[in-house]
Amino acid sequence: MSIRLGDTAPDFTADSTAGTINLHEWIGDGWAILFSHPKDFTPVCTTELGYMAGLKPEFDKRGVKILGVSVDAVDDHNAWLKDIEETQGHAVTYPLIADPERKVAELYDMIHPGELESFTVRTVFVIGPDKKVKLMITYPASTGRNFDEILRVIDSLQLTSRHQVATPVNWTKGEDCIIVPTVSDEEAKNKFPGGWKTVKPYLRLVPQPQD
Ligand code: BEZ
Repeated sequence: MSIRLGDTAPDFTADSTAGTINLHEWIGDGWAILFSHPKDFTPVCTTELGYMAGLKPEFDKRGVKILGVSVDAVDDHNAWLKDIEETQGHAVTYPLIADPERKVAELYDMIHPGELESFTVRTVFVIGPDKKVKLMITYPASTGRNFDEILRVIDSLQLTSRHQVATPVNWTKGEDCIIVPTVSDEEAKNKFPGGWKTVKPYLRLVPQPQD
């Protein structure tokens, strides 16, 4: 099944290192990241899951839960988690889904046989409180992901869900934003009383709105 941005994230119930998880219930009113890795006890995946564990406090601050998934069994996940803590210096405290029957993998189109015969590739889905898919990225098996980028996108998604702004290239938290084209100059006077800079009529820069 192919998933598009704005679709409702397919719901599932599956075993995990934290017991049975129903995705939509587990997400609750917050945000979530669902990310797949090809295989337990593999080198790139070990670095990725360890780094994600180190970043977890940042995701917590933003109300974002983390959920990993691969086609391995819970016992394998649990054994591998010890290696991750030992080698990467961070204990993985977020759950890992065990998907040996590839139910979640198929639901989320995580198996790309041209890349990896029967394992999940490196996908990331960001899911909002409305359970809609807000971001999807897919990396090849040979390339570890940049999870700082996922954090950056979440900052943008959370900001732009609250204010009528978009974020420019390479934006990071605290930098100027763009007033969305659907907001007229007249409306912008109320929404952004501190003013903005018009570079072109369609490119208006405004300091990042504060919450
Ligand atoms: C890795 O995590 O190192 C890896 C996993 C599957 C294929 C290639 C690399």
